[in-house]
Amino acid sequence: MQKVTKISEKRRDFGFEEVSLEEHRHRVGTLFNSVSNNYDLMNDLMSLGLHRYWKNTFVQRINPKPEMRILDIAAGTGDISIQILERLRKLQNYRGPLHPITACDPSLSMIEQCRNRAIDKGCLNAFSYVVAPAENLPFNPRCFDLVAISFGLRNVSDRQKAIRNFLQSLDFGGRFMCLEFSPAVWKVIEPLYEVYSMRVIPWLGQMITNDGDAYRYLAESIRKFPAPEILAEELEEQGFQNITWRSLSGGIVNIHSAWRT
Ligand SMILES: C[S@@+](CC[C@H](N)C(=O)[O-])C[C@H]1O[C@@H](n2cnc3c(N)ncnc32)[C@H](O)[C@@H]1O
Repeated sequence: MQKVTKISEKRRDFGFEEVSLEEHRHRVGTLFNSVSNNYDLMNDLMSLGLHRYWKNTFVQRINPKPEMRILDIAAGTGDISIQILERLRKLQNYRGPLHPITACDPSLSMIEQCRNRAIDKGCLNAFSYVVAPAENLPFNPRCFDLVAISFGLRNVSDRQKAIRNFLQSLDFGGRFMCLEFSPAVWKVIEPLYEVYSMRVIPWLGQMITNDGDAYRYLAESIRKFPAPEILAEELEEQGFQNITWRSLSGGIVNIHSAWRT
């Protein structure tokens, strides 16, 4: 049974340490600015390439349509935004997005990486780039049909506030989708997963980026993230409906879906 269920209004777990919201925001910001250069390489190494399958499945489930106004929160280096665009381009009769996909992240270095990748792929103008945290979104109410967040919700300092913002940013009939690690993995893989995430990943982080602490935070923050049924309660409390989730890879990650009706 998971002990930590809901975050308090004033304090927040930073890995296994409890800190103020302000301190949490500051530390997460510093961490992602410092890992942004090696971020894509580390994702491949840490997940043994699995993150590509998870993200691919996530984008399939999003099932983007050209008329959708899409917000990619915690966009990082743009994996999800770019995959959504690539999927739209495969659609028959597609003549470019009707609306640019909004890639939003509080880390300027991440958004710069995202922009550089878009330039390399020749799709700079298919996105709009916004530097902002999920708790403080600079968008008008009801201006998106889809809000997606991939491996980002775990890092948000004030999850309740962020979820409220996602709901408000969505138009009626809009959908929120979240791809995130889960602390609730299948029992049969638990011992191996424990050793891999708590020992191998920080070691790998230290070897590649010289920052083992950042990757220790990653493993610890997964343990502190709510199990899917608790996240579903949090989404419902903030007004989302028709909440479902699907586990991938023995429960290592979940795809959550919730609607604004
Ligand atoms: C693990 S990366 C995920 C990037 C990308 N979505 C992916 O799946 O590869 C987490 C991202 O969350 C961002 N982040 C951290 N705090 C955040 C917050 N309060 N609101 C929104 N994003 C945040 C970080 O800057 C970082 O780019």
